[in-house]
Amino acid sequence: MPSSRTERPLRELSANETPRYIVPSHVQYPHQWLWDSCFHAIVLAHLRPASAAREIESLLEGQWDDGRVPHLCFSPAIPPGKYRPNAEDWNTGRASSGIIQPPIIATAAKAVFQRTGDDDFLRRVYPKIAAFHRWIKDTRDPHETGLVGIVHPWESGMDNSPVWDGPRADFLRGYASRSSVPPRADTRAVPSSQRPTDEDYRFYWGLVEALQREDWDGRRMAERSPMFVADVLFNSLWAKANEDLSQIAWRLGRKGDSSDYRFSTTKTRRAIREILWSPGDGFFYPFDLRKGEPIRVKTAGGFMPLFAQAATTSMAAELIEHLSDRREFYSAAGVPSVSLAEESFEPERYWRGPVWVNIQWLLVQGLVRYGCFELAHSLGERIRRVVADQGYWEYYDPFSGKGLGAPHFSWSTLADVIEPLDPPPELRANVQVLPSETAERDEELATLYLHPEAIERPIEPEQVLSTPRYITRRVLDQVHHEARQAGLERGGEPSPERLRHAASALKGLIQSQRGLSKEYPRISDLACVAGELYLKDLGFDVRTVSNKYLHHYLVVEGIDGRRWIVDLTGSQFASYPAARVPLLFERLTLRVEREIGLESPSWMRLEDQLLLTQYAVEGCLRRLGADRLDRVERQTLLIVLRRHEGCIDRLIRLALPSSSPYLKSYQQWLSAIIAPLTTRANDPMGRRVKRAPRMA
Ligand code: GLC
Repeated sequence: MPSSRTERPLRELSANETPRYIVPSHVQYPHQWLWDSCFHAIVLAHLRPASAAREIESLLEGQWDDGRVPHLCFSPAIPPGKYRPNAEDWNTGRASSGIIQPPIIATAAKAVFQRTGDDDFLRRVYPKIAAFHRWIKDTRDPHETGLVGIVHPWESGMDNSPVWDGPRADFLRGYASRSSVPPRADTRAVPSSQRPTDEDYRFYWGLVEALQREDWDGRRMAERSPMFVADVLFNSLWAKANEDLSQIAWRLGRKGDSSDYRFSTTKTRRAIREILWSPGDGFFYPFDLRKGEPIRVKTAGGFMPLFAQAATTSMAAELIEHLSDRREFYSAAGVPSVSLAEESFEPERYWRGPVWVNIQWLLVQGLVRYGCFELAHSLGERIRRVVADQGYWEYYDPFSGKGLGAPHFSWSTLADVIEPLDPPPELRANVQVLPSETAERDEELATLYLHPEAIERPIEPEQVLSTPRYITRRVLDQVHHEARQAGLERGGEPSPERLRHAASALKGLIQSQRGLSKEYPRISDLACVAGELYLKDLGFDVRTVSNKYLHHYLVVEGIDGRRWIVDLTGSQFASYPAARVPLLFERLTLRVEREIGLESPSWMRLEDQLLLTQYAVEGCLRRLGADRLDRVERQTLLIVLRRHEGCIDRLIRLALPSSSPYLKSYQQWLSAIIAPLTTRANDPMGRRVKRAPRMA
């Protein structure tokens, strides 16, 4: 993994690190928050997997006996005056608050497992996450509708969203504060124009008092709290968490539990569509369960059913309209927390307009599941640029991108993993000279060089001729000349060192000619012809091998009694999209086939690999830009894709039902890539691969 892209976020996280967990921000939030720690674990799973588990396990240490995982656990090291309300203000009898936050623990645990493969970690956390889910289900969905309610704006994670203005007004109308609101510590470091108002705080505090009166009893809190709302973001994350927990349970051999969680997911997804969707507005709204009516304010939370794959394709299409509309949710820095068209929109005030990085991350993940790679990518790019420029702020002005709120805010490092990092460095190597045992150990290299279908195949003149003639001639002439010289001057037995030396000399030679022509797509063919000549002249026993992905390389037999692979165009191959895409699919096909053959396949890790491949393929297709696929390239791609498609069909028949929404979206994405290839395959004029349509 390239260190330049990982160093900066890791440094930022380390600065907020305490012995047990990472705090959101030393300045403003010096304790542990539920969904913050989950986001930190997700970033760590990508950048420093070894410490990702700790973030989740420390969070679960704060779990109550009844199963709830509090939204905030207080650190004893912090003086009580530094953050209010503090443990004493909450008065829960523990060093924590008594409410919860968006429940994405199972989602984060799955992300950790996907990168570590650590089954022991899953075994340790599963019973605790299961208890948390049980508590939510038992206390927050009294009528078993599939939607769960929240009792405090802090539970939504979006404290002062205008969604809460209505419930706040209702509450404050009848509210005579019996005690005074504790002094605010949150406006010491951050200007009050960027924070909730005093009125908001009267509401927050009043609700805390109301919940205290219920002795923090889970059921009574839900029954009696003045506020009880089925929030869109909360329920979407809840649906997704149940899907992920279902996969975790399956992995641990708890098939019954797994199907229970799957049932919950399906139920919540359906309720989101049936109760939270407003067909007239083409948008999802929170539903006030006390008043029995929707809260019609357009916020970024309304897009979260994409993350849960709860929206139908046509609902998703409507959401994308909103996301792409410059009067609503398309702003220079990303998707604002509140629609620009809402009266309550304020560009600098916390959850009333600014762009938040966690929301962008959730959105990108959701868009990808609906095949909207272009929008996902542009969103990822926008926020990455803003964060690279401003640093890791808590939120950003949607228009100017200016960093706002708390500085050095941990979860903003999500910007660095919003799209996966580059492909493995091996394939970016310039000249590859390696013993075949090395390729056997590395999956990507093995796919590239040791595939059973790789065959010895002479290069057809037509292929070399696709390189400008004058370059071909010059290179071949020079190769003969240089090889003779080298042979005369150096002599000696063919050895691995000599092989390496010869390969890089040859590479240099070809490279120098390559500069003459920018359009040089099939250099690998020429390089192989030249390479074979050159190495034979030096006394090596060489043959040209071709794999199914339009790639040629040389196999040198018998030095040291071993087989060596010489690839003169590895880097070109890796970055030449028309050639790389078939390789990516083929590698994945092999992985899927292997996984299917296992006794207990790991669906979670497979899903991660499918997603990574989708990103990589999309990246290649984007770069393909003006390049064109010739007939051979198109056919190769089609062969590989067909094989892959067949393997995905088998996977879908076998896979866990809870992973099927994602697999189905993957399948649709695949068909969208295949369709234009087949319709144009026989059309000599149809040379360009059409991009997958926006909506799968
Ligand atoms: C604020 C945010 C909340 C976050 C917490 C800690 O309360 O609204 O979403 O979890 O700060 O960062």
